[in-house]
Amino acid sequence: MDIKFTDDLLVGVDSIDTQHKELIGIINNLLNAINRGDGKDEVEKVVAFLKRYVETHFSMEETLMKRIKYPTDKYLEHERQHTDFWEKYNELINQYKKDPRSPLLVTTIKNVLVGWFTNHVNKTDKAIGAFVRKK
Ligand SMILES: [Fe+2]
Repeated sequence: MDIKFTDDLLVGVDSIDTQHKELIGIINNLLNAINRGDGKDEVEKVVAFLKRYVETHFSMEETLMKRIKYPTDKYLEHERQHTDFWEKYNELINQYKKDPRSPLLVTTIKNVLVGWFTNHVNKTDKAIGAFVRKK
């Protein structure tokens, strides 16, 4: 049931693509940990790791956009989507904390995270790749 990273998700900027692959791996670890019924401590370790990784990843992208002089409106829209991610993420974590054994949780986390990721990569991160290639 693992999520697969497929080539159609490639942005064309190595630093971004490498981290995206890694992110999918961490999301898989989280889903598997919850699915297996791992203890709260175990799951929270993966949650904390995912949080740190996403923070690092978002700031890497934001630094890159500044470095390549990405248009301000696009930069701000991109940053806004990153902020939206944290809202969705916190909501999911709260749901987990309230009801760690909820049978719907894994599907919900999977749908929300994968939905956000696919949409963001295809529409927003790929625009960075296109901008870099155009330069
Ligand atoms: Fe992004």
